[in-house]
Amino acid sequence: MRRTVRVRVFHDPPSAALAAAERIVRVSDAAVRQRGRFAIAVSGGRTPEPLFRALARVPDGPQRWPSWQLFCCDERCVPPDDDRSNLGLARRRWLEPADFPPGNVHPVDTSLPAEEAARRYDAQLRAFFRAMTEATFDVVVLGIGPDGHTASLFPGSSTLEVADRWAVAEPNPALPPRVARVTLTLEALGRARTAVFLVCGSDKRAVVATLLARTGPGSLPLPAARVRPSETTEWFLDREAAPEGLEPGTDRAFPGADG
Ligand code: 6PG
Repeated sequence: MRRTVRVRVFHDPPSAALAAAERIVRVSDAAVRQRGRFAIAVSGGRTPEPLFRALARVPDGPQRWPSWQLFCCDERCVPPDDDRSNLGLARRRWLEPADFPPGNVHPVDTSLPAEEAARRYDAQLRAFFRAMTEATFDVVVLGIGPDGHTASLFPGSSTLEVADRWAVAEPNPALPPRVARVTLTLEALGRARTAVFLVCGSDKRAVVATLLARTGPGSLPLPAARVRPSETTEWFLDREAAPEGLEPGTDRAFPGADG
């Protein structure tokens, strides 16, 4: 199947987040119909907060959640109740207020040193998806930094070349918070069916323009450009992050990245 890239632009972060949440729910309904479950991995940072709030308000959430399995695209190696915890943000804004079943949440064990936490998460992922030969996650929700990083895969890091692991430690993140991380690898992210990039803020405009300009052959080496899900990449941008010429209301398909 040729990969597709779809870009939508919204007036503000809450609108972009709500549209992303609605899309994720639609993908989940199809996944549950086809495979009886929906596997999603989410990122952290500040951008996903309105997304988590929107997911907490999903109609029939308690009826949907038992079919959902939640993983981390990356996690900071801090205690779960630390403000820097990615899953901690999801818990506060979505999982706890929406009665998401704790048994369906698969956190990174951040009580361990990063290398060991990564090894265990890798084993946990392989055990959970053991029957899957190709795609694993139905959706991975990603943000990007101004440097083009995504999850905790930073430009120039050796983690970008790890092909035999699904999770790896990043002991020296290039941007704050400068705490050790555990991140899914490009190998794991590439096993997703759909990648949802939720990107807001004028500080991301330049990198988004660069990434979208090269969705065709010869994609850039930026980590976010190297995420190649098997089916589709969907961008949800607010007006500030959208490149010149892509106004709110834009809903466009771009050629998929090659390879
Ligand atoms: C992390 C995130 C990271 C994030 C980007 C954007 O753990 O920091 O997973 O990849 O998505 O850095 O962060 P903001 O949403 O805060 O701009």
